[in-house]
Amino acid sequence: MSKNHALLEIKDLHTGFDIGGEFHHAVKGVSFDVNPKEVVCVVGESGCGKSVMSLSVMKLLPKHNGKIDKGEILFNGKNLADLSEKEMNRVRGKDISMIFQEPMTALNPVLTIGFQLDEVLLNHSKASKEQVRKKSIQLLKDVGISRSEQVVHEYPHQLSGGMRQRVMIAIAIACEPALLIADEPTTALDVTVQAQILELMKKIQDDKGMAVLMITHDLGVVAEMADKVVVMYAGQVVEQSDVDRIFHDPKHPYTRALLDSIPKMEERVDELNTIKGIVPSLKNMPQQGCRFVDRCPSAMPECKQIDPQLGETNKGHAVRCLLYETSQPGAKTEVRS
Ligand SMILES: Nc1ncnc2c1ncn2[C@@H]1O[C@H](COP(=O)(O)OP(=O)(O)O)[C@@H](O)[C@H]1O
Ligand SMILES: [Mg+2]
Repeated sequence: MSKNHALLEIKDLHTGFDIGGEFHHAVKGVSFDVNPKEVVCVVGESGCGKSVMSLSVMKLLPKHNGKIDKGEILFNGKNLADLSEKEMNRVRGKDISMIFQEPMTALNPVLTIGFQLDEVLLNHSKASKEQVRKKSIQLLKDVGISRSEQVVHEYPHQLSGGMRQRVMIAIAIACEPALLIADEPTTALDVTVQAQILELMKKIQDDKGMAVLMITHDLGVVAEMADKVVVMYAGQVVEQSDVDRIFHDPKHPYTRALLDSIPKMEERVDELNTIKGIVPSLKNMPQQGCRFVDRCPSAMPECKQIDPQLGETNKGHAVRCLLYETSQPGAKTEVRS
């Protein structure tokens, strides 16, 4: 494969749903890259289109009402949007794999852990059943399950949430994919278990040199894991940059609000600083202007009329906000109080 492109290039992705006979976009013009071995975190509140974006990459959208209607998803330069279901099945698990928030929904309750892990390995290799079972046991050890010889004979419900997520990680990395997509992989877990799973993911990413596309609403996870950050709001990318600049020089009022909503260690918190208002639903999406305008502390009258474009303010740092568009009044002014 040619070497001049990223591992994953999402270009102008538009994905939507048929809702009561009308088509509404949940992802509208999203573009970003994931380079080999890079950890990219996509952040945003619930309902911003993060899962729809990641399901689009895996082509796992609900068939009855969801579809990608514009854009490209290039993996090693090949457009996944053009692949048949059969071709896509070869990509899933082998080149790209995905772990979800709730491992119980991804694991089959009536099959043993060993069977489910063996199956992935058998699907993508010519190894014998015995070789595969040995590898399954080793994989479970690699994800920190010490009694893996027993666990292969157990069923998902016999394991704790954290253990199930470890199993999912083992299944996801079984074929050493170049890209792992993790959609809120720790959200459903207890805080201490969350930290262990994140630690494990970091270690595996490091050992295997995989790229990771991590979906989260948790900026703590971003600080722990990310090389690059993509901030999504209402189906669009509103800011994108390397992780240091997101935390130290955030530009978009939405990114700033997200950062302000993290409780600070040194503060006594009586009330979390949540962002006022809610993410608009697909049916209530503003038809023109900035999608954040109603919740934005820096909104200007023209924000309701003009669609802001995602533009670079600095090399590798892009923002979708009129405050930073040089042709607009108020542009490039320092808005942080
Ligand atoms: N199957 C679906 N049918 C209709 N609307 C959907 C469907 N899945 C997601 N949506 C809508 O798309 C938007 C983005 O959802 P989602 O990607 O799940 O958000 P996030 O993962 O960022 O919390 C939401 O408004 C959600 O209600
Ligand atoms: Mg989601």
